[in-house]
Amino acid sequence: MERIKLAIERARQLTLTQHDSVVSAAVRSAPPEPDTPAAADRGVAVNLLPLDAGHLERHRVVTLDQGNPLRQSFDLLRTQVLQKMQEHGWRTIAVTSPSMQSGKTVVAINLALSIAHHPSRTALLVDFDLRRPRVASCLGLPDEHSLNEVLDGKAELGSAIVHAGIPGFQVLPTRRKMPGAAEVLASERVGRIISTLRDDNPERIIVFDLPPVTAVDDVIAVLPHMDCVLLIVGSGSSTKREIEASRRHLARFNLLGFVVNKVNQRTARNAYY
Ligand SMILES: Nc1ncnc2c1ncn2[C@@H]1O[C@H](COP(=O)(O)OP(=O)(O)OP(=O)(O)O)[C@@H](O)[C@H]1O
Ligand SMILES: [Mg+2]
Repeated sequence: MERIKLAIERARQLTLTQHDSVVSAAVRSAPPEPDTPAAADRGVAVNLLPLDAGHLERHRVVTLDQGNPLRQSFDLLRTQVLQKMQEHGWRTIAVTSPSMQSGKTVVAINLALSIAHHPSRTALLVDFDLRRPRVASCLGLPDEHSLNEVLDGKAELGSAIVHAGIPGFQVLPTRRKMPGAAEVLASERVGRIISTLRDDNPERIIVFDLPPVTAVDDVIAVLPHMDCVLLIVGSGSSTKREIEASRRHLARFNLLGFVVNKVNQRTARNAYY
């Protein structure tokens, strides 16, 4: 845990240094458009909410700890994902699973953090699980800024993006369940939000945490807006029938691959996944 604390502290120092220079640059240049996430994206720490090492460790966020062997598994996954996405010019990736509790949120967070460590990429993690939003609680973010207010038309997109004190890593959290989740995700407003986030920074990879694909129609509703999809199969969590059904549901989208999660390490040599 000490190593995670040090990593967070180093990252925070870096962010604050970057923040200072960006703020002074921003003062000299024209102010950003109020309803775009541009300010947050350039590093202006609008919502700087640093993370707690103990909380992260308890929630299986392992990619901030250089010494954690599990981090290597996520870095390997990150490199494979980035290579494939680069090949096709893709910048948005959805994370889903055949059934509940497969580890989607844990994988989405660790994947986004690992992408943020990449020297030429930044990552934005968006919680699009409007039925069981868990990104904010896993990261231990205080209950302040969220996508809920943006979707309700009460806040601008830029004001909901959170900087967690990790360079190159931003979060768009969801705090509360949204009624009519599938309709919301299929709406023009969500389409515009995704386009704005995508257009805002060509170097940024956007990772969307979604609900399971077989349980509800939310995933099918929103996937047309996304470049590709990663399927997280929790070992022992999904049946063969659910996995096959997921493949059928995802057949017309760009399925990047499968991640088998929750594998018993004693039976899987050298592998977290
Ligand atoms: N590799 C793993 N090994 C053991 N437990 C894990 C692993 N990955 C995730 N978990 C645990 O499984 C539970 C579910 O994880 P998570 O919330 O990421 O799943 P999910 O697929 O997003 O769930 P939901 O369908 O509710 O959104 C959590 O308690 C998490 O800590
Ligand atoms: Mg989840």
